[in-house]
Amino acid sequence: MSTVLITGGTGALGTRIVDRLRRDGHQLRVLSRRAGAGTHLGDLNTGAGVAEAAAGADLIVHAATDSRRLRCPDPVQTEHLLRAVGDARHLLYISIVGIDQIPFRYYRGKLACERLIADSGVPYTILRATQFHELLAAAIGAAARLPLAPLPLDFRFQPVATADVATRIAELLDGEPVGTAADFGGPEVLTLGQLVEIWRAAHGGPRRTVRIPLPGRIAGGFRRGVNTCPEHRDGTETFAQFVAENETNPYAR
Ligand SMILES: NC(=O)c1ccc[n+]([C@@H]2O[C@H](COP(=O)([O-])OP(=O)(O)OC[C@H]3O[C@@H](n4cnc5c(N)ncnc54)[C@H](OP(=O)(O)O)[C@@H]3O)[C@@H](O)[C@H]2O)c1
Repeated sequence: MSTVLITGGTGALGTRIVDRLRRDGHQLRVLSRRAGAGTHLGDLNTGAGVAEAAAGADLIVHAATDSRRLRCPDPVQTEHLLRAVGDARHLLYISIVGIDQIPFRYYRGKLACERLIADSGVPYTILRATQFHELLAAAIGAAARLPLAPLPLDFRFQPVATADVATRIAELLDGEPVGTAADFGGPEVLTLGQLVEIWRAAHGGPRRTVRIPLPGRIAGGFRRGVNTCPEHRDGTETFAQFVAENETNPYAR
């Protein structure tokens, strides 16, 4: 049994990681900005409370992110965490497949976090995963409320279940730090158009869609599917199974 600090342990993926590691019998610390939401109150943007949460933790899962802010603060958050980790024997960072090939601002921030961790001297594993089912479901669900949904229907995705990613994280955490782990993807690579059809079959909408031909390198990357890893169809739950089984979505708050 180890003491594990989980940043982002109240998020979409983090709650799955917490469930999984608790079942495995670890002692858990969950950092949150919201009193009572985790076990430790703290803020990675300022560093407040982070050292207290990290003190004595041998393992760290860094799954916190602030993707909603235009100027992504994730590198600052990662710096504050790295200053607090002490002599942890393994830090696992969850990242995203293809971030080095898509010049999206949030992805640049994730790449900077990867580099900070790799250069920190802390023994680490970086696991890049594909987009979560919840993220794509929230995006399609929001578009479905429009009378006509304009969508980049030719973008490609390989949606993965957060529970499957959490299982992989638990396995990696059990072993020695590996540096960069193999990418982790869902069982199917599908276009957004195909994902919309799956959503429509379950929810009856969007009633009408129109393909928007987005220009630029970001759109080109998603169109080519550089955010997918077809050689790693590791997750087990398909998007159709997720849609059939989940009525609520943590991103649709
Ligand atoms: N979404 C995807 O499709 C996808 C795919 C691959 C990888 N990832 C990566 O997976 C990780 C988890 O993503 P997610 O979508 O599960 O996250 P999420 O649901 O948006 O949750 C964000 C988490 O970060 C915490 N957090 C944010 N700012 C914080 C701060 N200043 N101090 C302390 N905690 C802070 C939040 O905690 P409180 O609100 O409780 O403070 C929350 O637990 C991220 O690194 C993301 O890049 C995501």
